[in-house]
Amino acid sequence: MFVSFEGVDGSGKSTQAQLLREWLEGLGRGVVACREPGGTALGERIRDLLLAGAAMAPWAEAALFAAARAELVAEVIRPALARGEHVVCDRYVDSSLAYQGVARGLGVERVLQLNLIATEALLPDRTFLLLIDPVEARRRAGAEGDRIEREGSAFQHAVDRGYRDLADRFRERVVAVDAARAPGAIASIVRGELRDLA
Ligand code: TMP
Repeated sequence: MFVSFEGVDGSGKSTQAQLLREWLEGLGRGVVACREPGGTALGERIRDLLLAGAAMAPWAEAALFAAARAELVAEVIRPALARGEHVVCDRYVDSSLAYQGVARGLGVERVLQLNLIATEALLPDRTFLLLIDPVEARRRAGAEGDRIEREGSAFQHAVDRGYRDLADRFRERVVAVDAARAPGAIASIVRGELRDLA
């Protein structure tokens, strides 16, 4: 199965991705974990351009995220799924839909189309969306953050709204979870949702 975790920075999604990986490995399953943007040699170079580099046009940003994702799908995700392993990804297409589609104003539908082309229509079996008030998330995340995290609170609120709309739109795939709960409680919700797939 292919599972992704989504949420604003400070939502605890990376912790949950790691807990899921450990649980699956404990069950004796092969697991490949990845993070976006990155996870391949090309993807890590694109990550530097996107997160440490200068400002860029919104469609340049969306296209670079999609390029890193195309490489990750081709080099890592599809081969792992073909080997029968599980894939757990820290961010995937929904990040682009919320950050570029909604917060940057490019439009969810158009950014989705770009990503369906880049990934050859590979979407996760389940996506866990960790919902948290963006102000609280900022406080939890602590450090200054990357170029996109520094966009300010109106941008982060738009990302949060975008994510909530995605949970409504993709009800079959996206499971929204209250990120204020304890990590262990969230992890058991995640496991419960995946029991039939794992
Ligand atoms: P990270 O902090 O979870 O590694 O995410 C990197 C940053 O990139 C974060 O600020 C969210 C942003 N991002 C997008 O804007 N669009 C995307 O498609 C992805 C994957 C991340």
